[in-house]
Amino acid sequence: MGTSDSTTLRWGILGTGNIARQFTKELALSETGRLRGVASRRPDKAFTFIESLKNPDGGSITAYGSYRSILEDPAIDAIYIALPNTLHFEWTAAALRSGKQVLCEKPLALNRREAEELFDIADKNGALLMEGFMYRAHPRTHLLLDTVSNGEIGTLQLIQINFCFNRPAAKEDARFHPNEGGGSLMDVGCYCIDLARSLTGQEPVRANGIAHLHEWGVDDYFAGSLAFPNGVLASFVCGMTLTTDQTTRLYGTEGWIEIPRFWKAAEGFTIHRPEREPENIQLLPTSPLPPLYAIEADAFAGVLRGAPNWNPRENTVGNLKVLEMLRNQIQADPLTR
Ligand SMILES: NC(=O)c1ccc[n+]([C@@H]2O[C@H](COP(=O)([O-])OP(=O)(O)OC[C@H]3O[C@@H](n4cnc5c(N)ncnc54)[C@H](OP(=O)(O)O)[C@@H]3O)[C@@H](O)[C@H]2O)c1
Repeated sequence: MGTSDSTTLRWGILGTGNIARQFTKELALSETGRLRGVASRRPDKAFTFIESLKNPDGGSITAYGSYRSILEDPAIDAIYIALPNTLHFEWTAAALRSGKQVLCEKPLALNRREAEELFDIADKNGALLMEGFMYRAHPRTHLLLDTVSNGEIGTLQLIQINFCFNRPAAKEDARFHPNEGGGSLMDVGCYCIDLARSLTGQEPVRANGIAHLHEWGVDDYFAGSLAFPNGVLASFVCGMTLTTDQTTRLYGTEGWIEIPRFWKAAEGFTIHRPEREPENIQLLPTSPLPPLYAIEADAFAGVLRGAPNWNPRENTVGNLKVLEMLRNQIQADPLTR
């Protein structure tokens, strides 16, 4: 694994924001991951961040006062990029060139050209690069995909996905800035597209959408539709200023599946078939699973040890292709302004 020993991976994190904190908290519950460093643009922020951590394995965690300095430390094996979208390219490239394995937050890049370049850099440096669509690594996702492909609802025809949250617009939040890779489509619409592509195992032949634009110029909510070669249609809504149930529904010829609060991956799902009692599918009811990001970190380490890649290059590039098509529509369609 290129690590401190054959079973552990020494992680360093770039950034000290929301997801850095969440990932750090859950990494402590992973089997393979050990947090060894946190880097910030400002040394005091990195120190404050690590001071607040409980370190279950007792190993030391270093605070780095620049992103560059953590990349130069040979005591770090893997880097988790928890920076705003516009910085993913620069720092993922730098981490890969430093010989680190890299898990970068979604979306990996602003467009597929950047993503292709990053994977080329990874290949050249013999490093693993993965985009952190954490739900893909989760056993509930595998169970759901198996349920659909086993024909439990007949032939899948329609998919309905939503991923929305409600947060006040803030000048310091890159999500609300059109020039910083912001907008609901980039932030959470990317998940919806990725899920529809996972469920069909195909690339859409059509992608259409319409955006509502916030006064600062980003899409604060967006409705999209995708058509797949096998005849499946997917519709999705994503947004940053509204509250929804986050339920995903899959409709087939023989029934439908309802997955509540899809993105937390905390619950099972229900299969509905005409004239039968709903069937509740629970995941491993006898053994509580580790949290989502712990599973992701372990699954990343698993790929390093030779397990199948649960989010390979072609998937990331395919997702960015669809994102680009939809973002171009937001730019081009005067009705959305
Ligand atoms: N997988 C998930 O569930 C999930 C959830 C949320 C977000 N994300 C993704 O994670 C990434 C970070 O999101 P976040 O919510 O954690 O963002 P955030 O809270 O704003 O944190 C981003 C961090 O990046 C660093 N940074 C460097 N340059 C910056 C700049 N110009 N403006 C703001 N911050 C800057 C800051 O850390 P320092 O000042 O310490 O350097 C900051 O704390 C995004 O790509 C997002 O899409 C993923």
